[in-house]
Amino acid sequence: MADRRKVIDLRSDTVTLPTEAMREAMKSAELGDDVFEEDPTVNRLQELAARRLGKEAALFVTSGTMGNLVGLLTHTSRGDEIILEETSHIYNYEVAGMAALGGLLARPLKGTYGILDPEDVRRAIRSPNIHHPKTQLICLESTHNRGGGTFYPPETLKAIADVAREAGIPMHLDGARIFNAAVAAGVPAAEFAACADSVTFCLSKGLSAPVGSLLVGRASFIERARRFRKMVGGGMRQAGVLAAAGIVALETMVERLTVDHENARLLAEGLARLPGIEIDLKRVQTNIVIFDVRSPKTSAPRLVQELDGEGIKLHLIAQDSIRAVAHKDLDREDILLALQAIEKRLA
Ligand SMILES: Cc1ncc(COP(=O)(O)O)c(C=O)c1O
Repeated sequence: MADRRKVIDLRSDTVTLPTEAMREAMKSAELGDDVFEEDPTVNRLQELAARRLGKEAALFVTSGTMGNLVGLLTHTSRGDEIILEETSHIYNYEVAGMAALGGLLARPLKGTYGILDPEDVRRAIRSPNIHHPKTQLICLESTHNRGGGTFYPPETLKAIADVAREAGIPMHLDGARIFNAAVAAGVPAAEFAACADSVTFCLSKGLSAPVGSLLVGRASFIERARRFRKMVGGGMRQAGVLAAAGIVALETMVERLTVDHENARLLAEGLARLPGIEIDLKRVQTNIVIFDVRSPKTSAPRLVQELDGEGIKLHLIAQDSIRAVAHKDLDREDILLALQAIEKRLA
């Protein structure tokens, strides 16, 4: 393994590099000023995204974080409360933008590997009372990053959508990896998106585009969201150079996500056989593998540090917990090499 030059980077699917086809498309993209809504390539990407998600309109944003923030700002007013899951990305990993910039109060609920129970959501909705904040939004995440790549079963998502509709509360789906969920569940992404009023999804994770996410929803919602995108500094000009790669991502990179899911499964099953590794295979549903190290031979931080020295990168997510993510720049052989290296440290 010492002469292997390739770094096996399992930290995230965000490390994926654009494909040749993306680079070519970026080179020849037709461009205009997108703040004037005159970039034909951005417009084409937005139309494609809206169609794929079964929504009226879409807005190209710089990142998943911006898509979620702009979505939340568009749905709410300062002082409103939003229901979300306690390990969700919006609550934990988006720099408290919802509180700092939106003046929003979070109502975090406990989920099972990130998945909320519809009855818990129903119970958390505030009754009208002058003392209470107003429950203004329900946010779900699917696939769920910290949950380990889990996704909402379509019937659970529909049940929460029913709770939201009955209460007259809109729903936002952080679908950064919605296409992983769609491919794994064998349902079109639009079926998941139909349960939500707005959805964010990312082009720059498993789909391998260099930059960008989309916020989708009704045309009137996206019109308002466009102002908030400008407010947070997301009004880009000749953004078609980026959108061009996004079009290739949506058109050619979705179906191959099954390969990442197979590789994640291979890794997870291999890890499950190792002494000192604890992993719940039930939660390995897409491209993310979360496991704990409880070994007399090593610790999670030491394992991560030592493997890094060998060119194998893992993400330490807690004192005893590690995340590995399968993606298009890693193949089956890379996974087997990573497994071998981990096994060596535990023997
Ligand atoms: C579920 C989820 N939502 C949102 C984001 C934010 O995306 P970005 O890094 O593009 O801001 C991530 C990033 O990993 C994520 O996993």
